[in-house]
Amino acid sequence: MTAKIPLLIDTDPGVDDALALLMAFNDPGHDIVGLTIAAGNVGLGHTVRNALKLCEIAGRADLPVHAGCADPLLHPSVDAAHVHGVDGFGDVGYPPAAQGPQAEHAALAILRLSHEYAGELLLVALGPLTNIAVALKLDPTLPGRIKRFVVMGGAVSAHGNITPAAEFNIAFDPEAAHVVLQAFPHLELADWEAVVAHGFLHARVEQWLQADSPRARFYELIYRQTRGWSADRRGDHWHSADALAMAMALQPEGVLEQVDRPVAVELAGTLTRGATVVDWNRQTGRPDNATVLVRYDQDHFESLVRAALAAG
Ligand code: BDR
Ligand code: CA
Repeated sequence: MTAKIPLLIDTDPGVDDALALLMAFNDPGHDIVGLTIAAGNVGLGHTVRNALKLCEIAGRADLPVHAGCADPLLHPSVDAAHVHGVDGFGDVGYPPAAQGPQAEHAALAILRLSHEYAGELLLVALGPLTNIAVALKLDPTLPGRIKRFVVMGGAVSAHGNITPAAEFNIAFDPEAAHVVLQAFPHLELADWEAVVAHGFLHARVEQWLQADSPRARFYELIYRQTRGWSADRRGDHWHSADALAMAMALQPEGVLEQVDRPVAVELAGTLTRGATVVDWNRQTGRPDNATVLVRYDQDHFESLVRAALAAG
């Protein structure tokens, strides 16, 4: 039997983070070694509570959950409560999980786990990159111990979702994204524009949510509010950004098209702060530091999501 791949997920749950986590819980080839929690979609208190609750619902209360940084590195940012609900999980009033988070800070957990699984670890970032930036500042040798690093973030031709040019995770903490992109020689990016190209019809998602499982029942509850928001704003399709990044991370064989380029973050622009600037024509001479997802097998993506929702 092949050994499982150790998987560390940095996340800010968030309705789409929750779906990505369910996919990871359901994947037989990966062993989740920790969840490190960022602030982003909503404040850290909520994102930690949401992660703990999801673990409990999914029968994974054994997973260590580490709270991270409550704020971006430099500048305060506006959250995404208008999309995910004030509590980040659709304001359904769920009772809190029985278990609490670990005492160890997320940035320290990232470093410790990078040593425990040196050269093997798959790191997946589904939120703002604050915790990972802090870990890098504590120990710049971190990238040398990570086997693969998959990030949900960016808008590679500046079709942003939170400003005209920027995607939420990067725009929430551009300095952290800058630190991370400078430090890692290579990462894989599932950006917002790839997400838009891989939507699910709301009607199909609703069918999947009829599955007779605690996961589907809980997900159906927390998804309702964002579904309404999304149907108003974006039409027939629902876009689960973090789920696409998780599909790329767990099953890279589903990638049909990707492209390597240098990517940097705009920190100073008045209209473009937080934009991911891709050097499409390789004019800067900088090395390609990102593999950008262009196309993922949609049927495969859907089958991963369905299976994750239906799982016991
Ligand atoms: C990203 O922003 C958040 O709102 C989502 O959870 C996702 O990680 C999409 O831009
Ligand atoms: Ca997220």
